[in-house]
Amino acid sequence: MKSALAAAAAQPCVAGGAPPPVTATGDESWLDALRRQRDRLLADGRFHRFAAAFIFTRPIARSRARALFDLVAGFVYSQVLYACVTLGLLRRLLERPQTPAELAQALSLPLDRLERLLSAAGALDLVERRGRGRVGLGVLGAALLGNPGVEAMIRHHGLLYADLADPVALLRGSADHASLAAFWGYAGAHNPAALPREQVAPYSGLMSESQQFIADIVLAAYPFGRHQRLLDVGGGEGNFAMAAARKVPHLAVSVFDLPEVAAVAQARFQAAGMRTRAVAHGGSFFHDALPGDADLVTLVRVVHDHDDDKVQVLLSGIRRAMRSDAVLLIAEPMAGAPGMGPMADGYFGIYLLAMGTGRARTFEELRALLHAAGFTAVRRRSTRNPLLATVVTARPDAKSVNYA
Ligand SMILES: C[S@@+](CC[C@H](N)C(=O)[O-])C[C@H]1O[C@@H](n2cnc3c(N)ncnc32)[C@H](O)[C@@H]1O
Repeated sequence: MKSALAAAAAQPCVAGGAPPPVTATGDESWLDALRRQRDRLLADGRFHRFAAAFIFTRPIARSRARALFDLVAGFVYSQVLYACVTLGLLRRLLERPQTPAELAQALSLPLDRLERLLSAAGALDLVERRGRGRVGLGVLGAALLGNPGVEAMIRHHGLLYADLADPVALLRGSADHASLAAFWGYAGAHNPAALPREQVAPYSGLMSESQQFIADIVLAAYPFGRHQRLLDVGGGEGNFAMAAARKVPHLAVSVFDLPEVAAVAQARFQAAGMRTRAVAHGGSFFHDALPGDADLVTLVRVVHDHDDDKVQVLLSGIRRAMRSDAVLLIAEPMAGAPGMGPMADGYFGIYLLAMGTGRARTFEELRALLHAAGFTAVRRRSTRNPLLATVVTARPDAKSVNYA
């Protein structure tokens, strides 16, 4: 874009009608003044016409226009995806490519509307046309089926769409819908430990479905083999703990979660034949003491669910219970992590706003919270897929008294 600006400045056709140069005012830096100049140029229709016509700026203008249109149309793309998943179209095409007539009958859609969906899904690489008039999976459609957690998330997005129907009302705190807040029962609960099974089962199931991919990348990012006892706080139905136990045969594992969730984890440990190596504890990590025998404590996709004051209570509770030689490991999507793109602020930030609590934090913000709770040696470890999680480790600070 810098080159487009330079080219524009050199062109009389733009310079003639362009806004006067901006100079820095007050406490504004020259860089910010330059950005203000850029804003004016980009917001000027004449500049767009020039950039689209001028041979050197044309490619930039095109790719910017494309990015802008994708942004404008993005919610429609998402709904096309939602329709493909909820209709079971992609799973059906995994069995075998089919003709539109077969699909229309199987999915109970009029043929012309099914064709419309296929065209939209084709444009998004979810499906593709094959020989003999059949339709098969597109590269993104096929990749999506490789991760059942993504499909579960897409279905779950029905709730988020409802909450986002009026985003301004959501931002003002006056929205009618609070679908996500109701789904994540603990989000606004005064006594989360009392949540009944029917209120924890839907979100626990969703988390379990997406846990395998998280476990793979977290287990690859840190040497779990150097520990003997793992405590997974907010460990849900025990999937992460079981994956760690499978990867590290000498590791004894435990989970701490709300009583009705921990009961499911305990049953799953038994069903997996891990009764002697795995145990689940029920309680609220804001109100109850945590078991203190672990030399590795994990918080996987837990911290971002809560506001700073609650995180402080949680981390201080962990610090109090923790052995002095233990390590705390936090794994979740983090704002500003290399490779995270717009996901942290553009997706998780808004998702958690609709949920009513929490936010995606930067490493620096997490580090400050950890220091305040009595941790030291805070380190960030990159993972294979920062969109799913970045890992941060910390150790109890022997000198700190802040956590007491
Ligand atoms: C987003 S889920 C993550 C679950 C699991 N770690 C994973 O990655 O699949 C957050 C977990 O924290 C648990 N949780 C929330 N509030 C809690 C509390 N006050 N005490 C104990 N567990 C809590 C929930 O029950 C849930 O299992």
